Amino acid sequence: MTDRTTAKRVAGEAAVEAIDDESVVGLGSGSTAATAITALGERVAAGLAVRGVPTSWQARQRAREAGIPLTDLDADRVDIAIDGADQVAPTALLKGGGGAHVREKIVDSDAERFLVVVDDSKVVDAIDQPVPLAVLPEARRPVADAIAALGGAAETRMATRRDGPVLTDDGAIVVDAAFGVIDDPAALATELSAIPGVVGHGLFVDAADAVYVGSADGSVAVCD
Ligand code: A5P
Repeated sequence: MTDRTTAKRVAGEAAVEAIDDESVVGLGSGSTAATAITALGERVAAGLAVRGVPTSWQARQRAREAGIPLTDLDADRVDIAIDGADQVAPTALLKGGGGAHVREKIVDSDAERFLVVVDDSKVVDAIDQPVPLAVLPEARRPVADAIAALGGAAETRMATRRDGPVLTDDGAIVVDAAFGVIDDPAALATELSAIPGVVGHGLFVDAADAVYVGSADGSVAVCD
């Protein structure tokens, strides 16, 4: 087991301890959130009564395998969501490394409490990785132009095992928009949301209620 694997697992397991009986739980996507789904499944097997709302096809499959009963946003409001992140900065998260950021934002923002689980390599002073966008396919070129007008550079994320772009669970293409160091995530988030054809972006501004940061030594720091 790698150091990073341990750091992710302890963060996921610690966050799951915050889940109360009878909760509706947002189930995040990605490898760190997967550790929380596994840990939640163990609590369910031990008698905890929860229903999960998956944030992606992948999260749904993992929840089924873990034995977590599922519901949806039509039927229930989310009490608590646990999800990973690609970077955690003081006022914003970056998500969408796996292209699930639109559904993640819907579920995570519906939650009364949103807990982020990361290993300590994800904590940064400022977001500097490209921002994943979910884009309607016919808007690819106009969106790329709009990103350039904002001083960024857009690159369509291509699939590795088939010819063509990466598609989200909802059939959008994923465009990674590079801006270098993002000094004002809130302002950029507003500008990205206003671009026609952008279904959603991976900047989550002031979204987290707590961040669980796992380390390779097995410790977890909780930042509220
Ligand atoms: C999925 O699209 C993402 O938002 C993930 O939550 C994010 O990429 C974190 O994934 P890892 O926990 O695998 O790094």
